Amino acid sequence: MNNIDFKNSILLAPMEGITDFPFRIMCKKFGADVVYTEFVNVEGLVRNNQKTHNKMFFTDEERPFGIQIYGGNKCSMENAAKIVEKLNPDLIDINCGCWVKNVVGNGSGAGLLKDLIKMEAIISSTVKSVKIPVTVKTRLGWDENSINILEVAKLVENAGAKALTIHCRTRSQGHNGDADYSFISKVKESVKIPIIVNGNIFSQEKAIEVFKTTNCDGVMIARGAIGNPWIFRSIKNYFATKTFLPPPSLKEKIDIMLNHLQLEIEYKGEKRGVIEFRKYYNGYLKNFSNIAQVRAKLMLYISANEIFECIENYFNNTILLEVENLSPLSKLS
Ligand SMILES: Cc1cc2nc3c(=O)[nH]c(=O)nc-3n(C[C@H](O)[C@H](O)[C@H](O)COP(=O)(O)O)c2cc1C
Repeated sequence: MNNIDFKNSILLAPMEGITDFPFRIMCKKFGADVVYTEFVNVEGLVRNNQKTHNKMFFTDEERPFGIQIYGGNKCSMENAAKIVEKLNPDLIDINCGCWVKNVVGNGSGAGLLKDLIKMEAIISSTVKSVKIPVTVKTRLGWDENSINILEVAKLVENAGAKALTIHCRTRSQGHNGDADYSFISKVKESVKIPIIVNGNIFSQEKAIEVFKTTNCDGVMIARGAIGNPWIFRSIKNYFATKTFLPPPSLKEKIDIMLNHLQLEIEYKGEKRGVIEFRKYYNGYLKNFSNIAQVRAKLMLYISANEIFECIENYFNNTILLEVENLSPLSKLS
């Protein structure tokens, strides 16, 4: 497809409330090949809703960059796609996988898995309305009794989409339970467009296993990148060296976290940036010892200085002792 090569690609998944500009930049720095906006409601776009438009802000350093849209009305999809195209992203992705009730109830997202005629109409009319590539993200099927991914993959290809991402769960699973990758090799045999696998990839080891067992073109990481943006670097490193990287040191993790916070503040202003950053602490500070109280404090701060001070104290009091493998008393003596 145009200038995006999906072979052996590692993509950051679109995630509502998560994949904003600062987070995408962090993932890009660590090697994400393609990054996407959170999903964008086409009705908000055609009604010129400012909040909806704000979700599409991006910079050239994020390229190749995708804007994901969702909707259940063919005309709105066409009009929204034309609006999106004017912003000049590298691709438009259509969400055919969101499981949330009010999205599905509108006949969009995973709701389209129950109405393939409508899915076909929506994809092909979106494809025809723009010149940039259109891709699709979907699930295995509605539930375990109605898995239709083979049929859907052919439909997506025939409708003119240039790649397909498969979240290897059903709609009824939501984000829970194991992902089932067993359908992917059959899908690969039956279509020519690149196939990207998503679901339950939380480590470099898992990503490599998925590449090896499914014959997919790319993998897409979602929750596995939250507070863990170096996952892209680790997978890339494996391609280059055939070895797995150890996790970053605690000091490096903290530096990355504070770097991310800084970006968040630059982009959103101090108060909003600090508050909206709270959702990332769990990920970044996972497996740190004696962290519960520190995390509880971080969740209350509204100024950046308080956060930097708190982290510095924690680092000086706890981590250095661990790194040096000293007890507090032996450090004093
Ligand atoms: C908080 C959150 C928001 C999400 N928002 C979107 C979205 O806007 N568009 C989309 O296609 N999928 C969205 N998803 C689904 C993810 O892209 C991905 O398909 C799903 O989390 C499975 O991958 P994982 O098991 O690696 O997390 C979201 C998931 C989460 C956890």
